[in-house]
Amino acid sequence: MTVLHGGQLTRIAKEYNIPKSQWLDLSTGIAPYSYPIPSIPINIWQDLPTITDNLLFVARQYYQAKYCWPLSGSQSLIEKLPELWKTQNKAFNTDISHVYLPKVGYKEHQQAWQKAGCKLHFYQQYLPTDIENNSVVVVINPNNPSNDKFNQAQLKSLQETCEKTNSLLVIDEAFADILSPEWSFVSQIQAQTDNVIVLRSFGKFFGLAGIRIGFVCCGLQWFNRIRQTTGPWEINGPALYIAEQALADKNWHKKQIEKLQDQSQKQQTLLIKYFPAVSTQSNALFMTVFLNNAPHIYRIFCQHGLYVRLTDENDALRFGICSNRQLQQLEVILKDCDKFISHNLTE
Ligand SMILES: Cc1ncc(COP(=O)(O)O)c(C=O)c1O
Repeated sequence: MTVLHGGQLTRIAKEYNIPKSQWLDLSTGIAPYSYPIPSIPINIWQDLPTITDNLLFVARQYYQAKYCWPLSGSQSLIEKLPELWKTQNKAFNTDISHVYLPKVGYKEHQQAWQKAGCKLHFYQQYLPTDIENNSVVVVINPNNPSNDKFNQAQLKSLQETCEKTNSLLVIDEAFADILSPEWSFVSQIQAQTDNVIVLRSFGKFFGLAGIRIGFVCCGLQWFNRIRQTTGPWEINGPALYIAEQALADKNWHKKQIEKLQDQSQKQQTLLIKYFPAVSTQSNALFMTVFLNNAPHIYRIFCQHGLYVRLTDENDALRFGICSNRQLQQLEVILKDCDKFISHNLTE
């Protein structure tokens, strides 16, 4: 299984024979405004990276976590988790391990558990209530790309089911920074909690996906297990340094949320103008427009230099949030495509 992602502009530009500089790339859910890179002291470049106590302190504060540990992107733990679970859960080696995944959602989870030989089960909008012993349940909250959300009571009830069945709950909160804090399950995790792991992306909200840093929030036992599997210099020093400043900068967080919400609102108004009566799911980092003929409209957009993400189910297009300049570009492109879009919407 090859997992397709947004952010493949070089390949797409070649395919459509349009120079990269002429594209409007909205294919990811990465914020269009990045945390300003501070001036990085020379020793941070020269020395081997150190995970400082202060980084752990500001990360715990930001995520409201008892324990949290940096990763080179949450993706790195998504890939390692089956092996870790195998070591931790003795039954894994004797029984088939069952893994419950959202039918729609970031496919790297599915890929990792599939590679580990697990039996996969898919749920739609409702969280599974009936699970096998020694299972893993993956929840993406909010879901990318469907934007489905689960509140703490729903997740708590799932955690209790996991408790009874000796199962592990993995909550991927890659896009949760833009939600109010009560949506995050991190604060529910106690030091002794041993059946929940929450993954947090750094790159999306802070607009710095290229530096490859993310965090895991969990109880003490998972914290120790994960720490032991992290090599001494897995995350580069500049990324650790930038994250330490960024996570502590409450003023910037507030402004970033306001800006993203504002842009999201404006973009939603624009999209509704061109896609009336079409179901749209939006948050402050991406918006997903469900269409009968999404692949066709995707190709029309590409021919006009607009790169969005065609969902894996081929039933929707996901747009990243635009800056003001990008919003103007988007409007011009949508106007140019309008006759093709409206023709296709009524087909
Ligand atoms: C839902 C979700 N989880 C996790 C990731 C991995 O992101 P990162 O490794 O940058 O934290 C992504 C990336 O797109 C994602 O969409």
